[in-house]
Amino acid sequence: MKITYYKLKIFIDSNILITPPENRYCINVSDLRKEYGQKKIALDRISFTVEYGKVFGFLGPNGAGKSTTIKILTTLLNPTSGSVHIFGKEITKHGLEIRKRIGVISQHPSSENNLKVEKALDLYGLLWGIGKQKRKEKVKELLDAFDLQEIRNTKNDELSIGQKRRVQLAREFIHDMKLLFLDEPTIGLDPSARRMLLDYIKSQVKKGLTVFFTTHIMEEAEYLCDEIAIINKGKIIAFDTPNGLKHKYNGKNIIDIKVKDIAAKTILPVINTIAFDDQVEVDSENSFQIKSFNSQQVITQIMEIFSKNKINIESITIKSPSLEEIFLDMVNNKK
Ligand SMILES: Nc1ncnc2c1ncn2[C@@H]1O[C@H](COP(=O)(O)OP(=O)(O)OP(=O)(O)O)[C@@H](O)[C@H]1O
Ligand SMILES: [Mg+2]
Repeated sequence: MKITYYKLKIFIDSNILITPPENRYCINVSDLRKEYGQKKIALDRISFTVEYGKVFGFLGPNGAGKSTTIKILTTLLNPTSGSVHIFGKEITKHGLEIRKRIGVISQHPSSENNLKVEKALDLYGLLWGIGKQKRKEKVKELLDAFDLQEIRNTKNDELSIGQKRRVQLAREFIHDMKLLFLDEPTIGLDPSARRMLLDYIKSQVKKGLTVFFTTHIMEEAEYLCDEIAIINKGKIIAFDTPNGLKHKYNGKNIIDIKVKDIAAKTILPVINTIAFDDQVEVDSENSFQIKSFNSQQVITQIMEIFSKNKINIESITIKSPSLEEIFLDMVNNKK
């Protein structure tokens, strides 16, 4: 009989769970809490899992707890309580073993300033114990993939911020790894460098890499991530696929109305009587936006009132919210 290990959970008592080594999850975080000092709770009992071969997006506003989570998961920081398993192994007991199989690109840039780009990549490969021939091939691949050929003989401290970031990113891909953590990797990159990185990550995921990725940029999350967790003030407030998140908000639509020959703020009181349950905002001098779960009904009533009062409409558009709008709505409503 074939036993599927990840389904095998043995409880000895209510507090102890023995997880078999062939764990289904690459990352398994349970009840993780981090306090800085006595008062600052940076992570408030968060739990989530990431399956092998997936890209997990960790989204949240400034100070939400994203970097703290990455630091704990990469064994740079000790948790206050809770447990973290990476590759099925508990991080506080197997730190060294885990560090050998992961890559980390931290939020803060780092580079060897007086080394030329190509040399810096080669040296990093050497530090990881990669043989000469393999290093040569890998450095070439990365110089191409990150568009660094032209600057391969330039010293790091003579590079622009975006170029330095590209070198920092390329460098981490020099060694083989099973899991890569990226903390806001696209900051400082122009749109084409950003796309280049995301596509390179995708190509590595196809080869089996698992990725934990933090960002503020929703299009990136949508482009890259299989699953998303939204964290705010140390708590996870949503966990879903990008499409799943959108479906949850499906009922809520955004109506943009532009009027003619009249200032939007003068008709705001009328709009408010129709859409009293909804969020209404004046966008510009002659347009306003309504976020509503009853968009069809709201539009019908607005048309009737406008027609009675001879208010001319220049345009009406109705759309479902983007991931960015959902993110802002969630974070703002939990404040
Ligand atoms: N070393 C530290 N000592 C005390 N408090 C800290 C420390 N590092 C982070 N914090 C606090 O913990 C909270 C979470 O910080 P963290 O850096 O994890 O946020 P973040 O989500 O990465 O934010 P950002 O998007 O700005 O990078 C913040 O309130 C921050 O002030
Ligand atoms: Mg951070």
